[in-house]
Amino acid sequence: MCGITGYLGPRSAVDTALNNLKRLEYRGYDSAGVAYPNCTHVQVVRAAGKIANLEGVLLATPHAANVAIAHTRWATHGGPSESNAHPHGDCSGRIAVVHNGIIENYASLRSELVASGHQFASETDTEVLAHLIEANLPSGQPGPEEIAGAIRVALRRVRGSYAIALISQDAPDMVFVARQDSPLVIGIGDGETFLASDIPAVMRYTRKVILLEDGDFATLTSERIGITDLHGVPVLRFPIEVTWDDAAAEKDGYEHFMLKEIHEGPRTVRDTLRGRMAGKGRVELPGVAFTPQEWAGFQRFVIVGCGTAYHAGVVGKRLFEQLLHRPVETAVASEFRYSEPILDAQTLVILVSQSGETADTLAAMRAAKPKGAKTLAIVNVVGSTLAREADATLLTQAGPEIGVASTKAYLAQLTALTLLGLFLVQTRPCEPTGATQETIDTLLWGLHGLPAVLERCLQDEAQIASLAESLAQHSSFFYLGRGYDYAISLEAALKLKEISYLHAEAYPAGEMKHGPLALVESGVAVIGFCTQPITNEKMLSNLKEVKAREGTIIAVIREGDRVPDCADAVITVPNAAAALMPIVTMVSMQLLAYYVAKARGCEIDQPRNLAKSVTVE
Ligand code: F6R
Repeated sequence: MCGITGYLGPRSAVDTALNNLKRLEYRGYDSAGVAYPNCTHVQVVRAAGKIANLEGVLLATPHAANVAIAHTRWATHGGPSESNAHPHGDCSGRIAVVHNGIIENYASLRSELVASGHQFASETDTEVLAHLIEANLPSGQPGPEEIAGAIRVALRRVRGSYAIALISQDAPDMVFVARQDSPLVIGIGDGETFLASDIPAVMRYTRKVILLEDGDFATLTSERIGITDLHGVPVLRFPIEVTWDDAAAEKDGYEHFMLKEIHEGPRTVRDTLRGRMAGKGRVELPGVAFTPQEWAGFQRFVIVGCGTAYHAGVVGKRLFEQLLHRPVETAVASEFRYSEPILDAQTLVILVSQSGETADTLAAMRAAKPKGAKTLAIVNVVGSTLAREADATLLTQAGPEIGVASTKAYLAQLTALTLLGLFLVQTRPCEPTGATQETIDTLLWGLHGLPAVLERCLQDEAQIASLAESLAQHSSFFYLGRGYDYAISLEAALKLKEISYLHAEAYPAGEMKHGPLALVESGVAVIGFCTQPITNEKMLSNLKEVKAREGTIIAVIREGDRVPDCADAVITVPNAAAALMPIVTMVSMQLLAYYVAKARGCEIDQPRNLAKSVTVE
């Protein structure tokens, strides 16, 4: 999705804003632009395509300035072109605005502005903002307070989501920003101020950030940050310290962020477990703000998320049912909201999200609360909207995830869900749970040794890479499994399709003969997960059915298990407790997807049509 950066201070503002904007490239975009005040007007420079194209244009454009705002656009209203790229200006060319989000009532506002004489130069919803603000400015040369007032009045008429940054020729040492349902971060430096739509963009310069909240409007200079609501009433926002390692936002010698992040899997799991595995075989969740009575009172669980985060929930459902013997539902966030979910005060709605800013997941949380349910966010980004608004938060410790395809965050989500499941068992000692003490102890020990097991998975990288070379020739993939193996197949198939653009479909293995088997023929690859002793025999029969139709079979088996006769190739993964096998297996599946995409020459970190952090519904 779109990215915003901005800078005020002694450095070259344009270069600093663009360097920081590159840290947001992972979010996916199709054009870029920058605006800065010069002596006579606000200079806007834009280019379709990559930031490098914009830099090419800037080589021939003087751009010395101490204030700049910059933007990467992911097309929604109007195609990807230079004229639709941000920043957008008003008729006078005195203001320029960048925007993330969607102005829902832009069509009626645009008609009104056109009727009163405003001339539009793009097809975007954002341009409406520039003209609407212009319409509210007094004639002559407005001062900072008048500009701020005009922006606030304009924003009060807007319906939709936005993070905006605006500069004006009439207040050349200032940037005006506002937020509604789209993240915006202010970085506080020494005599300089940064702004961005995501924390990694400012981490190189400062760890002290203010995360604006919905309805906030701020006036920035290099020395001062003034925050009010949309009526001009001052609001207090305290800075937080970001503890993420800045190196985590760099490739660190890896060819792609995705590969680096796959290799960070073991560390991510270790960090997510840290401080939560107490002695005497117990789990502790310090900072997760429910009382013992609340914990013990939850009778039903609903796990909600999008994409990879939803897939983590599918694994979590099985685990919770096994451990707690309580009803657990999973829901795709975009469906949950419109499905009239049956919730009450004894229901815990668990929202899983890496970014904590996914619009559908936020909407699901906001739909659950009025029904009396308690909400728990399993989230990676401290201070994100989900983390702030949920009743309680369990942080995953994946660090910044830059590659669009989620990898280490998924491992962290599964680790957090396992900890949560075990913790919930502890909160109801008098209840007969579904899990035996032996199962619980096995899981606890398994979690303890998990980072080392994942390190071993990574040692098979070369072998998986060479298998991927041959698989890259296949036109279509099925990922089959049963139970936990089916849950993992959902995420494994998603990884392949999003970065290699190959058709990949996950199916419960037993369902194949109820329809999809008709699609199997030579050239179709089938990844069959056989990591669950309880279903392995049936899985083998299903794979034989595929073999009889000339599909290529790659069996995923545990170390020490017999290689199935029907397999054309095998991926062997270390053995672990049944409920932990999804975490173990996923490392190999992430590597497989990565190397297939690489063999096909795909743009791995920024796959086509996709964006990190989907902040529109
Ligand atoms: C896939 C992927 C997406 C995200 C989804 C939710 O690799 O990354 O499917 O999982 O957009 O994002 P978060 O977790 O930020 O809510």
